[in-house]
Parts: sequence; C-alpha cells; structure tokens
Amino acid sequence: MKNSSLHPLTFSFRRFAQLLFCAAIFVAATASAATPPAPIVLTGADRRPSTSLNGEWASIVDPYFNGLFSFHHEIKSNGWFLNRKAQPNDSFPTEYDFSTAPKLKVPGDWNTQRESLFYYEGPIWYERDFTYQPQEHTRIFLHVGGANYHSWFWVNGQEVCEHEGGYTAFNCDVTSALQNGANFIVAAVDNTRHDDNVPSLETDWWNYGGLTREVSLIAVPDAFIDQYDLHLSRSENSVVVGWVHVVNAGPGANVEIEIPESHAKTSATVGADNRALIHFSAPGLQLWSPETPKLYSVGIHSGQDSITDLIGFRTIETRGTEILLNGKPIFLRGVSVHAEAPYRTGRAYSDKDAEILLGWAKELGCNYVRLAHYPHDETMLRAADRMGLLVWSENPVYWALQFDNPKVLAKAEQQLDEEIDTSRNHAAIILWSMANETPNTPARTQFIETLAARARLLDPTRLITAPLLVRAEGHTKIIDDSLGDALDVIGFNEYIGWYEGRPESADITQWRVAFEKPLIVSEFGGGAKAGLHGSLDRRWSEEYQADIYRHQIGMLNRIPQLRGMSPWVLMDFRSPNRPLVGIQDEFNRKGLISDQGQKKQAFFVLQKAYKEKAVGKPE
Ligand code: GCU
Repeated sequence: MKNSSLHPLTFSFRRFAQLLFCAAIFVAATASAATPPAPIVLTGADRRPSTSLNGEWASIVDPYFNGLFSFHHEIKSNGWFLNRKAQPNDSFPTEYDFSTAPKLKVPGDWNTQRESLFYYEGPIWYERDFTYQPQEHTRIFLHVGGANYHSWFWVNGQEVCEHEGGYTAFNCDVTSALQNGANFIVAAVDNTRHDDNVPSLETDWWNYGGLTREVSLIAVPDAFIDQYDLHLSRSENSVVVGWVHVVNAGPGANVEIEIPESHAKTSATVGADNRALIHFSAPGLQLWSPETPKLYSVGIHSGQDSITDLIGFRTIETRGTEILLNGKPIFLRGVSVHAEAPYRTGRAYSDKDAEILLGWAKELGCNYVRLAHYPHDETMLRAADRMGLLVWSENPVYWALQFDNPKVLAKAEQQLDEEIDTSRNHAAIILWSMANETPNTPARTQFIETLAARARLLDPTRLITAPLLVRAEGHTKIIDDSLGDALDVIGFNEYIGWYEGRPESADITQWRVAFEKPLIVSEFGGGAKAGLHGSLDRRWSEEYQADIYRHQIGMLNRIPQLRGMSPWVLMDFRSPNRPLVGIQDEFNRKGLISDQGQKKQAFFVLQKAYKEKAVGKPE
C-alpha cells in the first residue's frame, strides 16, 4: 500500500531504515545463534557406545574459503554449511554441490589420499548425510578425535562448534541441531599455517590436513560423567585415589566405582563443584609396568551414566636423579616416534598403525617411547597401555612461537588441557612434555613455566619435562638452560656425529649438567637411506648411521644422571624440509626403519644395546 502524501525520498529512506533494522536483527540472530558453545573434553570417549561417522565424506577444496567468507571477507549467512541444493526457479546460482563432489576418507589426511592435495594447505569442506534417532533425556556429542588444524562444524546448517589445534580430541554438543531421521553434517578444515598457531610456521613434519582421526556421535544422559581421574596413591599402598566430574549432577548425587577383578568398590557424593572425590582400598592390585602391563576393567557409574574403562595402576616419581616406577629406579630404553603411518605413509590413526609402530619399538627392546611432537591418537595410547610401553607425551609447542603473545599462550594452554584431560588415565603416560627445542629467551621461559605450572595443577601424578637445547664450550656440552628449574626431568637433544662433528666426536665430548635431576636424551641420531651402503664415513649410508649409534651409546653411558633415551627416530617420516633427491625425497631419513619397514643397521646396534641392557645405570 503506497502513501501518496510523503516525498518519494522520505518513503524510500524510511523503507531503507526498516530494511536495515531487519537486516541488523537477522545478523544479530544468526550471529548469536552462530556462536556455539565451546567444545568439551570427554575422558574415555573411545570407551563409550557411539555411532561412527567414519567412511567416505564428500569434499570440496576451497583455497579462498569462498564457502564461508564473502568477497569482503565477512562470514556468509548462506555459506556452504547450508549444503543447499540448487532449485529450478532460483534467482541466484548455487556454485557448490556436495552430492557430486569427490570423496575423502575419514579418518585420514587429505595429502596422501589425492595427488593434487599432496602439498595442499588451506580449507577443505567435508559433508556427509546420516540418519539418527535422538532418544529422550539424552545429550548427543559430535566426537572428533582430531582435525588439523582449524575446524568448524555444522549439523543441518546449524553451527555446532569451532576448534583450533590439530592433535587433540574435542566434543561438540549437537543435541539441539539433530533431527529424527535424515541429517547432514558439514565441516570446514583449514590447515593453513599461521605465525600465531601452535605449532607455528616451521615444523620438520608434514602438515597433514583434514579429519585425521575418527569422528562419531556419542549419546549421554542429561547428567553425565565428562571427566575422571583414577590412579594409585603414591603415599598409601593399594589405595586408588582421584575424582569423577559429573555434568548437571548437582550436589548429593552419587558416584560408584568398582574394580570387579580385585573385588574393590566404593561410592562417593558429588560436591558443589560437581566433583566426587575418590579414595578407596583395592588390595592385591597388580601394578602396571612394561614387564607386566596389567589393565583392570573399571566401572564408573553415576545416575543413568556409566563408563567401563581399562586402567593400569602404577606410580611414577623422581628421587634425586632417579626416576622411580612403582618405587623402583628405572632406565627408559626408548625411541622417538612420529604418528606417520607405516608403509602407506600419512597421518597414523588406526589400531594397526599403532600395533606396527609400537611392535617395532618392542622388538628394538624398548620399555618406553617418546611420542613426538604432539599428542598422539588414543589408539596409540591404548596400544602402549596394552603392550607395556611407558610414554612421553608432548604439547606441540615446537621451535619458535610468539611466546610474548597471550593469545598464543591461551592456545597452548587449551591444547595442554585437552591432552591431559583426555589421556590422564593411561598408565603408560609418565611424562608430560611442555615443548620441544624452544629458544632460550625470557618470554619463552615464562611461557613454558606457565604451562608447566598448569600441567602440575591439572595432573600432580606425572612428571613434567621438555627437551632443552644444549650449549658448548669446546668439547664440553653444557645443559644449564634456566627452564630446567621448572621441570622434574630434563630432556635434551643433541646431534653429535650428524649436524656437528663426526661420529667419533662423541668419544671426546664431556657433559656438564646444572641440575640435580634425572636426565633423558630425547633426541640423537643421523640420516641413512635404507639399503645404501658404504664405508663408515659415507654420509647417508647405513654404516655411517650405525657408527653414530655406537659412539653415542659409549658417550651417553658416561653421563652419570642419564635415566633414559629416545633416539631420533623409529621410522622415516615425511618432512617438507628434506628435498634431497634419491636420498630423502621429502622424508626425514633418521629412522632406524624405513617407511617401508626396512630395518637399517643402526636398528640392530641399538637393539643389541637394549637387549643386553648396555645403556644407562643397571636397574
Ligand atoms: C630436531 C627436531 C625434530 C627434527 C630433528 C631433525 O631436533 O626436534 O623434530 O626432525 O631435529 O633434524 O631430524
């Protein structure tokens, strides 16, 4: 209806103001709707019944992130997350269609699935349809084992969460977005490297992108157990202590814990902080150790919710320069391991990947592995629990970060929280590593001291460490980086015989350590192309690498407080920093085993030393 009395302009101005106002409401509505709650951690998520969303997902490569951002780089309200199908009478084009898009497997990195994506760094969209019947009085979480690096998720067009960090699990509440019957999920995953990321721009491993770990739906009752910590008391024999946190329980709710095999059970009341404190005697518990990796089925119940986890019970602590497992000194005979899949290469994620990699470590004679440089998959940790391998787990604070940037600290803290809260009940994990090879600056030291203090608060039952860089005066190597004061166990990386000197340089190297603490050589080694042979001084030959190991073992045995080692590295792994054609071919070749399973001579040198316990002080 048109009002003739008004000046045409006045009319259109008022009309325009109304439109503006509606638009503002709409944007506000979508914005508020579009800011979903932060994802949560679910301890023992892999022990809960779930609906798997693994398999083939449609995928669209979107280098300019056109599916989310408009040409003025504003978030689109009609982005590809709507999974819109073009309609015959549309007045605008729909320039994407998941139903005709090529597939990518989940879990899996995209780099090794499609030649054209081998070097790709940027956003890729994923979509899959699924049916689901939500039950009454339940909350449903989308569980993502890992998505590298920055990811966004929508269910039926509604944004359900956003996450930054490529190596930790997270869970998004999708209860309000799910419908009975047909549903669809859209994810955008972007592995672009930014200087304020954790890790930052430089890494010596392939920046595998995608939904790299398993994805599923987990249903829990309205009041549910999100986190729990159960471990053996250090001070009271055969006493299990810890806590259970129950969301929406409310004070006075009950928690029951039972270990049927040891006829032990207890119950406790949830307090105002939704936590129930646990303390009960479990006589006759067999202690978990590499020799006897005994796992107990443990039932955790509260209200309608239950989880049955497989937990080993052991204590770990230091005494002077000793590391004590179950009260006894131990030497950690280890190797460093990247989550690179054996044979097929790409990001490791399966039980089989873990069995092969850790099987090789056992064959080497290891009782310990350093899982580098980021939290590994639950499949790897479960395998370490089962196979009896102690674990060093690491937060991906790697090389140089913006240590003076509070936002970067917050990201590192978030990833540390997710790592510890997800994996705190693995008996295998004894060490939380805060970082790797960071520059010795005041900002860095403060940054990592903050992380170490946080880790101690989150988990006072394990040891805090980090590999420090070493300085030298002549043939004397000195470990006196002041960060060592914040650590329980000092790690150090050195490459005598490879990046510096010849293998025999180790014979004349002395060590000076400024800390009365246990010491672990977290990295040493050298490169070799499997099958390349030659004289001892021919670099890249198996003979040269084996010689490095012989001299290193001699040198390391002369360091009185050395309590462990994890040479670099179990298996060759892909790295963008390694272009030497015919030798490296974009692999870091410091593996004791090639990516195709060929054992190099150095493997047998170290295996002999480990089997004969010829390293470290006798236990
Ligand atoms: C460093 C670093 C590793 C790297 C290794 C190497 O010490 O921690 O990530 O791969 O050296 O240079 O091979």
